[in-house]
Amino acid sequence: MSARPARTVVITGAAAGIGRRTALTLAGNGWTVGAFDLDETGLATLADEAGRLPGRILTGHLDVTDAAEFAERVDGFVAETGRLDAIVNNAGILLAGRFEEIDVAKQHREIDINTKGVVNGLHAAFAHLKATPGSVAVNLASASAIYGQAEIANYSATKFFVRGLTEALDIEWKRHGIRVAAIWPLYVQTAMTDDIKTGTTDRLGIKLGPQDVADAIVGAIDPPLPRRLAKQVHFTVGAQTRAMALGSRFSPAWLTRAVNKNLAGH
Ligand SMILES: NC(=O)c1ccc[n+]([C@@H]2O[C@H](COP(=O)([O-])OP(=O)(O)OC[C@H]3O[C@@H](n4cnc5c(N)ncnc54)[C@H](O)[C@@H]3O)[C@@H](O)[C@H]2O)c1
Repeated sequence: MSARPARTVVITGAAAGIGRRTALTLAGNGWTVGAFDLDETGLATLADEAGRLPGRILTGHLDVTDAAEFAERVDGFVAETGRLDAIVNNAGILLAGRFEEIDVAKQHREIDINTKGVVNGLHAAFAHLKATPGSVAVNLASASAIYGQAEIANYSATKFFVRGLTEALDIEWKRHGIRVAAIWPLYVQTAMTDDIKTGTTDRLGIKLGPQDVADAIVGAIDPPLPRRLAKQVHFTVGAQTRAMALGSRFSPAWLTRAVNKNLAGH
């Protein structure tokens, strides 16, 4: 009797932070992981670290803003593994500060990576996910997609894009057998938040680590039965995010605005 083939996943932004932790966690669970990033030095250390795990990690250069390179990498990965059970669109950057003081070209790059990067990933993965029963696309949203966040306005807006895209495609791609889910962490201790200081980070602190988010991603890929039956699309990470998401759902608009204004220290 032949062994069941390993499940496979493509993860972007996998050289560091949340993406790296997710790659190691899934490879630890026996998955074959396609780990892609701009940072080839970080990928080389990831490949070394993966040597001891039951699964495999294959690495490769990818700039998620390049649709042609994205398609080439995903096709190459599937040619080697034979299937694609999941994609985790994780690569992202964060610019913090007063909106008018941030260089517009940098803001455009933030939009390109955080939004078009996800669009490119979903296009690159679609045919392969469709061909694999029980497949899923997981996109990294953020607690900043609950209400627009002062001092990370452009970033926050990119995560609203991810939220909308996820909700729409989860409905649209059901007929292809593909689930689409979004992950909602508040601030996480990674390189992304190393130099970030906003009113919200001062007030709420940075309480989550990359493993918390990796566990939520694994939980979104393989949800427990009640969440699967509830067709859960959004997966919050941590008690603070859950409280904020619930609060914004049940509070009047003026109160949600006031809470967010106070949290940002404005
Ligand atoms: N850290 C947080 O507080 C936090 C909170 C909520 C959501 N998120 C989201 O989680 C995701 C991962 O964040 P992180 O904290 O691990 O960040 P990180 O900075 O630690 O890692 C991001 C990785 O993405 C890679 N990357 C950047 N641009 C890329 C591109 N164009 N193509 C391919 N790879 C690229 C980087 O090289 C890096 O390895 C992001 O989408 C982020 O918005 C993070």
